[in-house]
Amino acid sequence: MALLGVLVRAVIIVVAAAAAVSGSGLPVPGFDGLAIGFYHETCPQAEDLVLAEMREIVQEDRTLAPALLRFMLHDCFVRGCDASIMLKSREKIGERDANSSYSLRGYEQIERIKAKLEDECPMTVSCADIIVMAARDAVFLSNGPRYQVETGRRDGKVSCTIDADNDLPPPGSNIVDLKIYFSVKNLGWKDLVVLSGSHTIGRAQCGSFARDRLYNYSGEGRQDPSLNTAYAPELRKACVAGDPFDKTYVDMDPGSPYTFDLSYYRDVYSNRGLFVSDQALLNDRWTRQYVERMASADSTDEYFRDYAEAMTNMGRIEVLTGDNGEIRKVCGAYVD
Ligand code: HEM
Repeated sequence: MALLGVLVRAVIIVVAAAAAVSGSGLPVPGFDGLAIGFYHETCPQAEDLVLAEMREIVQEDRTLAPALLRFMLHDCFVRGCDASIMLKSREKIGERDANSSYSLRGYEQIERIKAKLEDECPMTVSCADIIVMAARDAVFLSNGPRYQVETGRRDGKVSCTIDADNDLPPPGSNIVDLKIYFSVKNLGWKDLVVLSGSHTIGRAQCGSFARDRLYNYSGEGRQDPSLNTAYAPELRKACVAGDPFDKTYVDMDPGSPYTFDLSYYRDVYSNRGLFVSDQALLNDRWTRQYVERMASADSTDEYFRDYAEAMTNMGRIEVLTGDNGEIRKVCGAYVD
């Protein structure tokens, strides 16, 4: 009988998966209470609404696509994917107030998408899921893959500066530290090298890399010897010593800063990665091999598949599901 039960369950899962793939949208059970198509019954238009809103947002300002992709990292790595990054603190002790959130953008856009969903399906779609869907669409609208996302996350009620500053890898991280930052979130070397490829879109303030790479490598007052010698003068021109480093931005993948492609790996392979953490991917046998393979790949197929998988893994970090957490009306509610 038990075997029959297992078989029936397996058949249901296969049929539901086929239905989801074929587009009928029936929920497919996923990790720990998440499901693909979680809102199928309660708000079937949720994913379409997010995409439509994201289209407008990116049309109005294309720099918001990378910003909203980065937003998911900052939510998921800190207390899990629970929208705690959105919570506001009058005492200035929330995640938003952390040094690591200094240049983070996307708060208003997540709130704008939430307001749209509240009009259509009140108190149904979590802010945590909106962040994950917006990141997926940011990638898609930058010519990247559009993969299926698991939904069903609920929103957390706690947000602390210290968690954000402890759990997000700084751009000066070496490969050993990066692997630790990722492994404590249940992510492996492959997730690290694949998700770092997100730096194929977007920009960074000089403050995020100029000291480490141009002016004070290892506290020695010199340039990082591993930085491409033709690229370094270009960066020095943009980030002039003595100028305020938080006022100037540099594209992370200068050839195609708004196109989600493989050029990040070609940059890193030729020592033109912007951060120490990008360059560090060449200092481990497995991540290096991956960088090399993607740098010379003819097609994005393998990378896009890997990216969908790695984003799904990141979207599973410490999720609140079922009766845990809450669904909020306003994502940026005050906690104190
Ligand atoms: C591996 C460790 C990582 C480090 C150390 C890191 C660090 C950073 C830093 C310092 C910036 C620039 C911030 C600024 O100066 O304004 C940045 C930008 C960005 N990061 Fe990462 N990041 C990492 C992984 C990731 C992951 C996993 C994702 C996404 C899934 C991501 C997506 C982005 C994007 C899209 C931007 C550009 C943001 C914009 O243009 O507004 N990063 N990252």
